[in-house]
Formats: sequence, C-alpha cells, structure tokens
Amino acid sequence: MRLVLVLHGPNLNLLGEREPQTYGSFTLAEIDARLVQAGLELGFEVRTMQSNHEGALIDALHDARKWAAGVVFNPGGYTHTSVALRDAVAAIGIPVIEVHLSNVQGREKFRRRSLIAPVCVGSISGFGWHSYALGLYALARLLE
Ligand code: DQA
Repeated sequence: MRLVLVLHGPNLNLLGEREPQTYGSFTLAEIDARLVQAGLELGFEVRTMQSNHEGALIDALHDARKWAAGVVFNPGGYTHTSVALRDAVAAIGIPVIEVHLSNVQGREKFRRRSLIAPVCVGSISGFGWHSYALGLYALARLLE
C-alpha cells in the first residue's frame, strides 16, 4: 500500500477550540482519524504529523521524500511567510498538495498570497476538513 504524509502546520493542534466559526469544530485527532479512513478507501496508508515549528516541518518534508508517495500539507500561517518551507517542498521531488480548511482567498489580504502554492501540484481551500480528503483524492488521481 502506498504511504502518504498528511502534514499540519502551526496552531492546527488547537482545532476544535480555535476559531471554530472559521476552522470547524472537529479536533485534529478527529480529522486525522477520518483521513486515515479516507486514505484506506483510496489505497493509501496515511501517516499524520503536526508541528508548530518551521524546522520540524522542514525535517518532516525531507524525511517524507524517503518513504512517502506524496504529501497533503496545510502549512497554516507559514503559508504566507515561509521561504524555507517553500524551498523544502521544491526540494523533495515528490508531489505536495497544499490544503486549507478556510477559504484563504476570501479572507484578509495577507492570506491571499501563498509562498508554498507555486511549488505544489495544486491547492485546495475552503472545504473544512474535506479539503484534506480532497487533497488525498487528488493525490490518488495524480499517482494512478
Ligand atoms: C489555514 C489558513 C491560514 O491562513 C491560517 O494561518 C491557518 C489555517 C487554514 O487551514 O485555513 O493557520 O491554513
């Protein structure tokens, strides 16, 4: 079975209590459980990880190039600021799909620019936790 990394960036550990009107009421553990199930239906073994630290996210991306067929990545606030994460995505040579729970294009101006999107295969935003599930689906279609 192909392995896929679902990677969550900063503050996403607080899902469920953090601005639920924007990010929904599911906890990260609940979302991860759904994604493991959605992955199985697509023929993937999904491994999940969350970090609030830029360097740890970079390390996880580097490591994933050795074992994952692709990555579904929500870079959180680093989306809009991190050249280092963009460079990591560009460096690893496996497909990365950027996802966001909220519709970043419909929010503050600073959220409309993603430094990560240009080096990803594509981006999915605005569908709550389904954005991740759609990311897994896109990865399955891409890899077939
Ligand atoms: C987010 C959108 C980002 O702008 C924000 O900083 C987040 C979450 C989302 O999933 O909607 O932390 O990535």
